[in-house]
Amino acid sequence: MPSVTTVTLVTFVTLVTTVTLVNALATNLYKSHNPHAMEKHDFTIRHEEEKDHSKVEYLIRESFWNVYRPGCSEHYVMHVLRDDPAFVKELDFVMEKDGELIGQNMFMKTVIEADDGSTVPVLTMGPICITPPLKRKGYGKALLDYCLAKAAEAGYGAVLFEGNIGFYGNCGFTYASRFGIRYHDLPEDADSSFFLCRELKPGYLDGITGVYRTPKGYYVDDKDVEQFDKAFPYKEKLKLPGQIFS
Ligand SMILES: CC(C)(COP(=O)(O)OP(=O)(O)OC[C@H]1O[C@@H](n2cnc3c(N)ncnc32)[C@H](O)[C@@H]1OP(=O)(O)O)[C@@H](O)C(=O)NCCC(=O)NCCS
Repeated sequence: MPSVTTVTLVTFVTLVTTVTLVNALATNLYKSHNPHAMEKHDFTIRHEEEKDHSKVEYLIRESFWNVYRPGCSEHYVMHVLRDDPAFVKELDFVMEKDGELIGQNMFMKTVIEADDGSTVPVLTMGPICITPPLKRKGYGKALLDYCLAKAAEAGYGAVLFEGNIGFYGNCGFTYASRFGIRYHDLPEDADSSFFLCRELKPGYLDGITGVYRTPKGYYVDDKDVEQFDKAFPYKEKLKLPGQIFS
């Protein structure tokens, strides 16, 4: 006859095996429905502080460099926007891993000029970036999901901006044209698939059609960018395939 100790041990091992199997099954089921979910959280997200400013600008420069044009301007855009009245300080976030800044994202207030003559307050977003060595590992999606949840908690109704549906589609964005929102100064027959929208309050844009305006602060002078960039370590500007600006 097995002793009480043996029975207890067998019961314990069976229980542990069952729990492990159920956990593995649940994780696989979750991942099959959320292919971009991260296995574990090895990062923290917090508000950007003044002490982070230059590190964040360096991070943005590293991440955007030669991606959309030879060089980039986004580090200067960030530098300028922090002092813009439309800047949303409570939605200005950095992501850290092992004590290093690995990502950032921020929001600006703007409006849709509705066809009925009203003005609908909305948010726009970015720059958002992840440090180059950690791109395509799920950190960008984790950061964006967090920021969007915080923006919704803060009571904002919708976010619109220019971006790649390949990435933003994973975070609930779709084409803004589906909401009846047009991009300023874009001819009616032009491709507007770069212009994306996500409601933060379901139904916020119901019954609204109109034109979205990019906040003025995003338009920076190339000469100012050049001047600002001189304070950073030299990096070669390259013309690469896939860049959308010359
Ligand atoms: C865009 C960016 C923030 C995305 O962050 P990330 O951590 O690299 O992205 P994730 O790993 O979370 O991506 C999740 C999924 O989104 C999609 N995705 C991510 N980046 C993409 C891109 N550049 N093009 C198309 N799809 C993309 C993919 O489906 C990806 O999953 P996969 O790698 O299994 O294919 C980051 O790559 C980055 O900093 N890029 C340079 C700066 C930039 O372009 N910022 C956005 C300006 S609009």
